[in-house]
Amino acid sequence: MVNFKGKHILSGKQFNREEIEHILKVASDLREELKSRPSLDLTRGNILATLFFEPSTRTRLSFESAMLRLGGSVIGFAEASTSSTAKGESLEDTILTVCQYADVIAMRHPQIGSAERASRVATVPILNGGDGAGQHPTQALLDILTIKTEKGAIDGLTVALVGDLKNGRTVHALVELLKHYQVEMIFVAPQELRMPPEITESLKSFGVKIKETDTLSSALKEADIVYMTRVQKERFSDPSEYEKLKDAFILNRAMVEQGKAGITILHPLPRVTEISTDVDSLPGAAYFRQVRNGLYVRMALIALVLGKI
Ligand code: NCD
Repeated sequence: MVNFKGKHILSGKQFNREEIEHILKVASDLREELKSRPSLDLTRGNILATLFFEPSTRTRLSFESAMLRLGGSVIGFAEASTSSTAKGESLEDTILTVCQYADVIAMRHPQIGSAERASRVATVPILNGGDGAGQHPTQALLDILTIKTEKGAIDGLTVALVGDLKNGRTVHALVELLKHYQVEMIFVAPQELRMPPEITESLKSFGVKIKETDTLSSALKEADIVYMTRVQKERFSDPSEYEKLKDAFILNRAMVEQGKAGITILHPLPRVTEISTDVDSLPGAAYFRQVRNGLYVRMALIALVLGKI
């Protein structure tokens, strides 16, 4: 039996296939319910706190929109500089404090492992909205929902993950979900930004078929899904290294048209230069539909950890 009541959502690694499918089902049901009304009455009286110690547009606003559309309320901060972190308060003390005010916490923090640290002291569920270059499980779930919605099924697909596979927390989380499906993975990255070998090795020992390449055009010929990512500027200690790598892959309309027919293009966003805007009007450009799915997945997760569904 799948039961998320009171649970923390910290990493893509925590889910089995049954749990992933359950979250997708709840998210799809909520999507249906929102077709006939703008909001529901599931979490009335409950409060979500959003603690964002790192920049965000989609993750924070979609968590907030999700809670509001569930009928609950939201408090929080979008900048560590306006919280007591600026006075030297520890993450643990901030969490212990916010647990006195909120029933569930969504957080983003620049340090790997920060959400896990928060969960050790928290008395309410922690939803990890990104811990440095670590994990981003709610993004991975919305990515999976988008793949399923766009393609009808996940088994049998070839998925190319492109860009900063070293620092990108979205891809680190997504592969942990995809590994539960019959999916072939192609990792497309410059040498300097390859998927960390420990992740690749653990996927291979799980039985996943993986190819690694530094050419996007060859991957586009084979992939059903191409998942573009931004080179993660904020993780570089040497700005010249970022300058050298920032435009490593730029997907344009002509490249998509020469790729496999029916290819679906995803991106967690924000994009910088990785996808030319001439791709946006192609039928396979699904990245803004992907954004919308984030709302349903975060509604599902909030409702589930609060035990409302
Ligand atoms: C991603 C993130 O913050 O990891 N954005 C998001 O949550 N949709 C991707 C990125 O910033 O490149």
